[in-house]
Amino acid sequence: MSEYQPGLEGVPATKSDISYLDGKQGILTYRGYRIVDLAENSTFEETAYLLLDGELPSTRQLAEFDAQLREHRRVKYNIRDIMKTMPKTGHPMEMLQTAVASLGMFYPNDIPVQIRSPGDESDKYVHGQSIRILARMATIVAMWQQMRIGNDPTQPRNDLSYAANFLYMFHNGVEPDPLVARIMDVSFILHAEHTINASTFAAMITGSTLAMPSYVIAAAIGTLAGPLHGGANEHVIQMLQEIGKPENARPWLDKKLAAKEVIWGMGHREYKVKDPRATLLQKLMMELAESRGNVSPMFETALALEEACEETLAPKGIYANIDYYSGILYREIGIPPDQFTSIFAVARTAGWLAHWRQQVAQNRIFRPTQIYTGYDVRDYTPIPER
Ligand code: COA
Repeated sequence: MSEYQPGLEGVPATKSDISYLDGKQGILTYRGYRIVDLAENSTFEETAYLLLDGELPSTRQLAEFDAQLREHRRVKYNIRDIMKTMPKTGHPMEMLQTAVASLGMFYPNDIPVQIRSPGDESDKYVHGQSIRILARMATIVAMWQQMRIGNDPTQPRNDLSYAANFLYMFHNGVEPDPLVARIMDVSFILHAEHTINASTFAAMITGSTLAMPSYVIAAAIGTLAGPLHGGANEHVIQMLQEIGKPENARPWLDKKLAAKEVIWGMGHREYKVKDPRATLLQKLMMELAESRGNVSPMFETALALEEACEETLAPKGIYANIDYYSGILYREIGIPPDQFTSIFAVARTAGWLAHWRQQVAQNRIFRPTQIYTGYDVRDYTPIPER
C-alpha cells in the first residue's frame, strides 16, 4: 500500500497523451505541439480538433469540424426558459453549471458511452456530443451576459468564427474588430487544456461512471468555480485597482510581502519560470495598446508590479502566471470580471472533453482507497444510556 499524499500531489491518476507541461523550462504542449506555435498559427477550432482527435486536421477535416460547431451553436428555447428563471444576480458559473446540466434532459441519449474500439457507435456518439457541447458552451455564457441585464439574447451567427461569434453575442450583436476577435481566439487556445488538474480530474471521475456528457461537464464546471482553481484573474484586477498607479507598485509590494500576503497572478505549482501563456497574453495586451495608441493605466501598473516582483519573488521561482494578464486583457475588451471564470470554462471544455473521450476509451471506474482513522467496531448504545 502506497503512502497517503494529501491532494494526491505527485500521484499519477491516468496515462494521457493529451498535453505535457515542463514547469522548469516553461513549456506547455498540446498533443506535442508547443502552445506558442498554436497561439501564433492555429485557431481555437483547430486546437479543439487537435485536443479531441490527437492530430492537426487536414483542410477538409477542419472545415467539417468547424461546420458542425457552427451548426450546433443554437440552444433549445427550453434552455433559455430555464435561464430566464434564474436570479440575475447569480454568479455566471452557477448559471453555467445549471444550464449545462440541463442539456442532458433536452438532448437525451440511450447509447452507452464506453468506447470499445475507435470509431464504434459509442466513439461516434462521444465525438458528436463533444462538438455539440463545445458549440453550446460559448452560446450559453454569451446569452447570460445579455439576459442578466434584461436583454433578449442575440442569436448566434454562423458566418463568424467561434471566438468572434462569442464576442458578437456577448456584446449584444456588436461584431468585434479583428484584433479583439484574435485576442479572444488566442485566449481560448491558451486556456483549452492544462494536464490533470482538479476540474479535469472531476470530469474524468464522472466520466468513469459512464455518466452522460452533461454530467461530466457540469461536474467540471462546479470544480473550476472554486477560488483555488479558476478566478485568480478577478483578484488581479482588484489588486491592480488597489495599487492605482505604476509608482505605487514597489512600496505596495514591499508592504504585502512583509505582511506575508499573496500577490495574485504570481506563482504556480508547476511553473518555476514565467508561465508561457502569461508571456503570450502580455504580448497581445501590448498589441492592443499599440493598435489603440495608448497603454491603459492598469496595464502600466501591471508591468511595474511585475518588474518589482522580478527582484523580490523571482529568486524564489515565482513569476507571472496566466491569470496575471488574462483579466487585464478581458477587461480591456469589455468583459466584466465575474465572467472571467465562465470564459475559462468555455475554453477548457475542449480539454475536459478530450479527457472524457480518453477516459471512456480506456475506462476503469475511479475507486481510490482511504486510510481509516476511526473507531474499531463498537456496540450500539441505546439513546437513554448516552
Ligand atoms: N505571492 C507571494 N508569495 C508567494 C506567491 C505569491 N503569489 N507564490 C508563492 N509565494 C511564496 C511562498 O509563500 C513561499 O514562500 P516561503 O518560501 O517564504 O515560504 C515561496 O514563494 C514558494 O512558494 P511555493 O510554496 O513553492 O508555492 P506553491 O506551489 O505552494 O503555490 C500557488 C503555488 C499558485 C498556490 C501560489 O503561487 C499562489 O497562491 N499564487 C497566487 C494565486 C494565483 O495566482 N493563482 C493562479 C495560479 S494559475
